[in-house]
Amino acid sequence: MAISKAKELGVDGCIIPTAGNAGVAMAAYCARAGLQAVVVMPRHTPQAFKEECYWYGAEVELVDGLISDCGARVRQRNANGALLDISTLKEPYRLEGKKTMGYEIAEQLNWTLPDVLLYPAGGGTGLIGIWKAFQEMKQLGWLAPDVKLPRMVAVQAENCCPLLETYEGRQLNCHSYQGRATLANGLAVPHPLGESMMLRVLRESKGTVVAVSDEDMLAGMRDLGKDEGLFVAPEGGAVWMAARHLLATGWLHRDENVLLLNTGSGQKYMDNVAGRAAG
Ligand SMILES: Cc1ncc(COP(=O)(O)O)c(C=O)c1O
Repeated sequence: MAISKAKELGVDGCIIPTAGNAGVAMAAYCARAGLQAVVVMPRHTPQAFKEECYWYGAEVELVDGLISDCGARVRQRNANGALLDISTLKEPYRLEGKKTMGYEIAEQLNWTLPDVLLYPAGGGTGLIGIWKAFQEMKQLGWLAPDVKLPRMVAVQAENCCPLLETYEGRQLNCHSYQGRATLANGLAVPHPLGESMMLRVLRESKGTVVAVSDEDMLAGMRDLGKDEGLFVAPEGGAVWMAARHLLATGWLHRDENVLLLNTGSGQKYMDNVAGRAAG
């Protein structure tokens, strides 16, 4: 969605700070649109993400640090505004694209919604976009008046959980939060610009936020591999473990319809997870 709009607006190219996936997506769509692509990602990002950008012809700049450091580099490098900055929530269109997940959920559930939805939240576009889609579908009448919107659960990494810290009142906001790298690269977002919007989704939906350790993410990946034949990303492993945790605390009930979103394939994280299948 963002690149289609960039093309329509007549820009020459796009630049993005990324934990990996958004940069790969931007590189692919820029290739198709004939736009220059500059992707700035942490040096420790698994090789598969960098490689894919190279194959799409993007320029990749590696930065020592997390996505927030990449953001600073993008601002410095693009000070003259020559490229369109596709940073999370700094342009309005990526969020509109993420609404597709909300539409597909409703469509595949025959225009009903689950009671609870768990999503691995980093920058927040998924959580905010899905919620926006649900609300708009209600307004449009695509969902019947008696369809209840789900309780939305943000799943974070213990190593980088700014939303949890703010939600539980240990900090006023994420501005000075110190995050660390995690196996779930997509969740290593220490200063999400959309923090207040994510908190609003949690509040409006009566949801919550859960943080999962890297070891537990691996355990979750093993469960889903061995029990379901799914090789999910660490973000997907985290979501499964968060659901188990919420069931154990009684926040989730066995008779509820619970939807878990997996946002990536374990294949891309081979640098991080190879050799860990047996625990
Ligand atoms: C695999 C994966 N899951 C989840 C996320 C979280 O993204 P967001 O919170 O913006 O939806 C990302 C972002 O990079 C990701 O790469």
